[in-house]
Amino acid sequence: MKLLNSIPHKPVLLREVLEAFQTEESGIFIDATLGYGGHSSAILKTSPNINLIGIDRDKTAIEFSKDRLSEFGDRVTLLHGKFSEKIEEATNLFPDIPILGILADIGVSSLQLDELDRGFSFESNNLDMRMDRESGLDAEYVVNSYSEFELEKIFKEFGEMRNAKKVARVIVNSRPIRSGVELASILPKKGKGTHPATQLFQAIRIEVNRELEELKEFLNSIQKVSGAKIGVISFHSLEDRIVKEKFREMAKSCICPPESFKCECGDNHEKGYILTKKPIIAKADEVKENPRSRSAKLRLFQTK
Ligand SMILES: C[S@@+](CC[C@H](N)C(=O)[O-])C[C@H]1O[C@@H](n2cnc3c(N)ncnc32)[C@H](O)[C@@H]1O
Repeated sequence: MKLLNSIPHKPVLLREVLEAFQTEESGIFIDATLGYGGHSSAILKTSPNINLIGIDRDKTAIEFSKDRLSEFGDRVTLLHGKFSEKIEEATNLFPDIPILGILADIGVSSLQLDELDRGFSFESNNLDMRMDRESGLDAEYVVNSYSEFELEKIFKEFGEMRNAKKVARVIVNSRPIRSGVELASILPKKGKGTHPATQLFQAIRIEVNRELEELKEFLNSIQKVSGAKIGVISFHSLEDRIVKEKFREMAKSCICPPESFKCECGDNHEKGYILTKKPIIAKADEVKENPRSRSAKLRLFQTK
């Protein structure tokens, strides 16, 4: 089934992802955020002995990639669902084959953002923002049912908005709000540059999809996979901080509290080592060609 005539999403940091994961070895590669199969298809092409398990919570992405990756036949298995729940299933699918790599390119895809009826856009006539259209919570509920205090909290935390309190109040006083267009009009665009409602939409999207909880659970689940290279691409400083701190914690051998005088934990807790002291970012040519890559950060970790 051809769902779309063109590929709607450019994979970010593709060169760097291939440098990290391309291999002649036999094993499994898990793409935890399959999306439109950009990273997956490049890995399948350049690593001939790899079998791939792709996960996505968005059925449209799964259907699109099923078609796109069909040329690789039974080297590909696709799972619909949240990576927080599906990583374990994926790691148990082929128990005799080693897992060589796991990649999560988190956040939304260009298609999710651009397709108006998904309700992620300033121009949408609805308010949805669910990556998985079967999940319960949507943006319309958050905007119209959360208390002013709850809204302020998510705008501060997930949007890092300085005017969080004021915006929360305006929203509560403007209810009901039924579309992206109406929501964006609360912070109208003046002149060129980024739309002032960008952070507002981002905060609501993160809340709707529980994105930070998902990331934390993902980072917990990959610790149980031995001998794998883990890559996480994030687009948001909050997410990058979570990844950086978790990788640091995973690399620690001694987990005694800092105030302890001597080690009592056994000093054998490290889950592996960090491969990227600093995150890998997009080179100028990529940023020029794909401005979305400007904020992408890739961090790598090797599990024991
Ligand atoms: C940035 S896109 C990935 C693009 C992909 N790397 C490519 O090259 O086409 C992110 C994808 O991850 C999916 N996603 C985000 N969070 C997820 C989660 N917690 N579990 C499963 N899929 C998730 C989204 O639905 C989206 O399709």
